Amino acid sequence: MADNHNIVFLNGQFMPISEAKISPMDRGFLFGDGIYEVVPSYKGKLVGFGLHIQRMQDGMNAIGIKLNKSVDDWRDIAQSLIEQNGKGNLGLYFHVSRGADIKRFHAYPDDIEATVFAYAFEIPEATVADKTLVKQFKVASTQDLRWKRCQIKSTSLLGNVMHFQQGHDAGVHETILYNQHNELTEASACNVFIVKNEVVITPPLDNQLLPGITRHMLLDILRKDGTLQVEERVISMNEVRAADELWITSSSKDIAPVVELDGKPVGNGKVGDIWQLAQTLYSANKHNY
Ligand code: PDD
Repeated sequence: MADNHNIVFLNGQFMPISEAKISPMDRGFLFGDGIYEVVPSYKGKLVGFGLHIQRMQDGMNAIGIKLNKSVDDWRDIAQSLIEQNGKGNLGLYFHVSRGADIKRFHAYPDDIEATVFAYAFEIPEATVADKTLVKQFKVASTQDLRWKRCQIKSTSLLGNVMHFQQGHDAGVHETILYNQHNELTEASACNVFIVKNEVVITPPLDNQLLPGITRHMLLDILRKDGTLQVEERVISMNEVRAADELWITSSSKDIAPVVELDGKPVGNGKVGDIWQLAQTLYSANKHNY
């Protein structure tokens, strides 16, 4: 899939990316006034599709964007993009902005049509649950300086982008974030889990973090399996630094094991056995969502 031949979806039509144009008056462009989703697919099989579309609908409801599209409409767009862009491993990106106005005015206009964009991009092979082969992640940490509505998957991502860049500049893969009380929230583009004494722990859902679909599926899979104890609770950064294992999760990364935090080893500095078990269970069950 050469990027310039990429077939994308824009406002009801499929076209080469080079022909996809939006107005500079689009509120997505001017204000970051929109909602987006990223759904992984492996050889044409979508993962967690209904959950992703429900989260996108929740986001649109939260910011008052009205759009008449069912899960099946979205599935048709996804399937068509997969057909037209090759059946490798593709991430599907969906983006709904409030639309283009004739002027720049902050209040929501009520007479404009939402802009709907979707495209497919290549993602890595699904993670293999083998601690000798898996990519090992390094992260930095910093205080979370984003807004207080992080549960909304908004296209206003500058706060996340700036935090990601901090880690990037420091030569690591991600930046994990903590609030003013020194409590873990999430990472710039991932949710975060720790393992301590074989208990898998992640912060509870609230306005400080995105309700990640990978997070949701992993918790559900672990609870149904029952081998590992799972907790959703506040986690201090002291606990993060003393954790046996640290993971970051997202649709494109599955469960990514972190071996270094702020230049110091996590646990014994190696990918852990609990990661291996969790990723094995996740790989075996993620296509059931
Ligand atoms: N990022 N937290 C944030 C801030 C995110 O941006 C993401 C996803 C996640 C994980 O959510 P999920 O498991 O549903 O992918 C958590 C996407 C992939 C992105 O922006 O590219």
